[in-house]
Amino acid sequence: MASPEQYQPRWRIADLDFSRIDLQRVRDDEYTFYLVACASFVESGSDLYTHNLVDFFHDNEQVVAWLRGQWELEELQHGAALRAYVAHVWPEFDWQSAYDSFLGEYAAYCKVELLEPTKALEMAARCVVETGTATYYRALSRSTKEPMLRDLAARISNDEVNHYKHFYHYFRQYREREGVGRSRVLATLSRRTLEMRNEDADCAIRHVLRFRDPARAEDAAYLRQLSARMNTIVRTNLTPEMALRMIMRPLELPPKVQSWVQYPIRQLMHYVFLR
Ligand SMILES: [Fe+2]
Ligand SMILES: [Fe+2]
Repeated sequence: MASPEQYQPRWRIADLDFSRIDLQRVRDDEYTFYLVACASFVESGSDLYTHNLVDFFHDNEQVVAWLRGQWELEELQHGAALRAYVAHVWPEFDWQSAYDSFLGEYAAYCKVELLEPTKALEMAARCVVETGTATYYRALSRSTKEPMLRDLAARISNDEVNHYKHFYHYFRQYREREGVGRSRVLATLSRRTLEMRNEDADCAIRHVLRFRDPARAEDAAYLRQLSARMNTIVRTNLTPEMALRMIMRPLELPPKVQSWVQYPIRQLMHYVFLR
C-alpha cells in the first residue's frame, strides 16, 4: 500500500483525446448512450457516498487518506470523463438538467443507515460494489466498437479492480480485528450481490429517459424493455469467472470447500444478471 501522500488518480481526463472519437461507430447506438449516461450519473453522485464512508472510518487515518486522496477523486473523474464523452457524441442531451433531476431522487438512497453493521462487513460490501462496477465497465469496453470508449471503459474498469484491492486489503485488517465469522461475511456478500442490480441503476435510467425521450418517460413497458436490453448487453459481454472470483475472495475459503460455496453464489449471480 502507498503512503497517504502518494495517493492520486492513476490517470487524468487531460490524458484523453476526445477528438479521436469515431462518431460513425457510436453516434446512432442508443443503448450505448444509455449505458454511458447512466454510469456517468451514478459515478458523479459518488461524493454523496464518500462522506458516509469517511465518517464511518473516521478513526482510521490510512483508510480516510485513501478514500479522499484516490477513491473519491477517481470515482468523480469516472463521472466527469463519461459526461465529457456524452457531450462529445450526443451534445443535444441536456446532461446537467437530467443529472439534477436524478440527484433529487438519488440523494435519498445514500444514507448512513445503509452502511453495514461493522467495518469489516462494510469493507466486504464495498468489494462487491467494486466487483459490480469493474464487471460493468469491462462489459461496456467489450460491447462497443468505438475505440475511444473501449479505452475509457477499460481504464475505468482497471481503476475499479484497484479499488477492490484496497477495500479487500482493509477488509482483512478489520476482519482480523473484529473476528467476524465467515457466515456473516457470506451473508453480506450474498445480499450485496443480489443488490447489484439495484435502485441506483433503475433510478439513473428513468432520469436519463425523461430528458432523452420525454414522450416515453412514463411508458413503463418501454422502460422495462430498455433496461432489459441494457442488461443483455452487459450480460453477453460479462466475464463471470472474474466476478465470481472477486466476490468469493473475502471468504478466504480453503480450496476444498470453495466449490461448495461457489454454487449458491453462482446461482445468485445468474439471478442478478438474467432476470
Ligand atoms: Fe467508478
Ligand atoms: Fe470504484
